[in-house]
Amino acid sequence: MQWWKNAVIYQIYPRSFNDSNGDGIGDLKGIIERLDYLQYLGIDAIWLSPVYQSPGYDNGYDISDYESIESIFGTMEDMDHLIKEAHRRHIKIIMDLVVNHTSFKHPWFIEAKQNPESDKRDFYIWRKGKEGKVPNHLQSIFGGSAWEYDETSDEYYLHLFTKEQPDLNWENPKVHQAVYDMMNRWVERGIDGFRMDVIDLIGKVPDQEITANGPNLHPYLQEMHQAVLKDKELMTVGETWGATPEIAKQYSNPSRQELSMVFQFEHITLDQIEGNKWHLKPFDFVALKQVFDKWQMELGNEGWNSLFWNNHDLPRAVSRYGNDSKKYREKSAKMLAMMLHLQKGTPYIYQGEEIGMTNTPVYNYEEINDVESKNYYQIAKAEGIDEKEILKAININGRDNARRPIAWTSEKNGGFTTGIPWLALNDNYSEINVEAAVHDKHSIFNFYRQLIQLRHENDIITLGDFEDLSPNHPAMYAYQRTYQGTKWLVMLNFTDQNIETGLDIPVKKIILTNDQMSNLDTTTLKPYEAVLYQRA
Ligand code: GLC
Ligand code: CA
Repeated sequence: MQWWKNAVIYQIYPRSFNDSNGDGIGDLKGIIERLDYLQYLGIDAIWLSPVYQSPGYDNGYDISDYESIESIFGTMEDMDHLIKEAHRRHIKIIMDLVVNHTSFKHPWFIEAKQNPESDKRDFYIWRKGKEGKVPNHLQSIFGGSAWEYDETSDEYYLHLFTKEQPDLNWENPKVHQAVYDMMNRWVERGIDGFRMDVIDLIGKVPDQEITANGPNLHPYLQEMHQAVLKDKELMTVGETWGATPEIAKQYSNPSRQELSMVFQFEHITLDQIEGNKWHLKPFDFVALKQVFDKWQMELGNEGWNSLFWNNHDLPRAVSRYGNDSKKYREKSAKMLAMMLHLQKGTPYIYQGEEIGMTNTPVYNYEEINDVESKNYYQIAKAEGIDEKEILKAININGRDNARRPIAWTSEKNGGFTTGIPWLALNDNYSEINVEAAVHDKHSIFNFYRQLIQLRHENDIITLGDFEDLSPNHPAMYAYQRTYQGTKWLVMLNFTDQNIETGLDIPVKKIILTNDQMSNLDTTTLKPYEAVLYQRA
C-alpha cells in the first residue's frame, strides 16, 4: 500500500503559523520550532503553502522564482533544514506547485514583456485586442476581465487570477520542460510530493474560452508523471474545483499514471448559487451527505479520495458546518472531525483546525486583507450592493477567516509573534490556543490525535467498504465501514437538538465518542453527539 493511503496530511500556511524573528510574519524557522508539536499530533506529512520568492500579491501564490525562498520566510538553508528536521521525525514534506501562472515579477515574464522577440514571449499567453477591446469574454476568478493590456506590444496577456499573476502558456513545450526540470530539482532536495495549485486549468484553450478540464490536461499530467513522478514514492494531489467522480478517476486511477488524488470541492460549492461563493442558498444537509456518499461509493478501486473541510481559501469548518458558540464549539468540531476522518481517503487538517479555531468577522473594508475579498467588495460596491450585505458575504466565505495567525499560548498575540502580527489574531485566542488544547485531555486536539492513531492502526478506515445507513435523515449522518468481517458504525448528530436516529443497531462497544455520556443505545443522539461503535 502506498504510504499516503493511511496518512494524515497537515497543511501549513507559513505566513500565519509561527513567527521566529518578531517581524509579525510566520517563517520556516518558526515551523521548525513547532515540529515536535506536529509529531505529537501524529501527522504523516506537511503540505507547505508557497514559501518561494514572491512579491506577495496573492500571498505567495504569485511566484517570481521557483527555486529560491522568499526572504520573509527564510533561506534555502532553512528549507533544507526543515526537510531534514521533519524527516527526522518521520514527517514528509509536500510542496505547493503553482504552475498555472507565475508572478509578473518572474524573469520569464519580465523578459517576455520587455522583448516580444525573446523565446520567453511564448511562455505566456498574448493576444491582439478586438476593435480596441479585450480579445474575448474570459473572466478572472478574482473578478473582472482575464485580459490585461500591454502598451509596449499593443497586446493583451491572460491572467485567470490577479493581473500580477500572468498565466503560463502550456501549449509551449518549453514551459513543460522548464517546469519538470524545476520539479526534479525539488525532488532531489528531498521533498516527498506536490500539491498542484489549480492544476485543472493548465489545459486551457483561451481562444475557445475553455479554462478548466481542457483537452490536453491529462496528456500533460501523464507527461509530467513520466518526467518527474514515475517510480518514486511521491504523493501528488491536484486542486481541481470542477472534478466529478468520473473526472477524479481520470486523474487518480493508478493505471493512468497521473496523480495520487485530487481535491474536489462539491461539498464546498453545494450551497453556492451559480458557483458564486458570495451568493449562498440555504444549506441542504441531506444533499451534503449525498455528495460525501457519492464520492465514497463511486471512486471504487479506480481512484483515491482526499478528505477535507478546510484550507487556506475556505472559512473555518466549525463556524461554517458546526456551531462555534461557547456551548457547542468543542463538541461540534469533534463531530465534524469524526465524520471526515472515518471516511475512505486521505484526510487533510488545516492548521488550527485541530484546536477548533473559528471565523472572526470584519466590520469595514480596512480590516480586509485578502485580494479576492477586496476585489469582491469593490465590484459589489460599484454594483450598488449594500455594504452590510457585502461584509456579511465576506465574513461567511472570505479567505482571511482561515489566515488568522495560530495562537500557541494565551499570552499577547497568542505567542505567534513578539512583534505586530501581519493579520490580527482571532478575538478568542486567550481561550482557543494550542497550549490550552494540548493540556486538556478532552480537547479537540486530543480527539484529533485519537482519530489519527485509529487510522494508523486500523485498515478498516483506509480500506473498508462504505455504506450510508440513513441517507434521508434530516439531522443525522450514520455510516458503516466493513472490512474482513468487522463492522464499524459512525453516528453523528449535526444539530443542537436531541434526535431520534430511527435506527436500533446492536453494537458491542464504543471505540470513540465526543460525549462522555454516550452508551450502547443507538436509537437517540444528544446535540452534536458523535460516536464510533464496533458492531455486534
Ligand atoms: C489556488 C490557491 C489560492 C490561490 C489561487 C491562485 O486556488 O489555493 O490560494 O489564490 O490558486 O494561485
Ligand atoms: Ca518572521
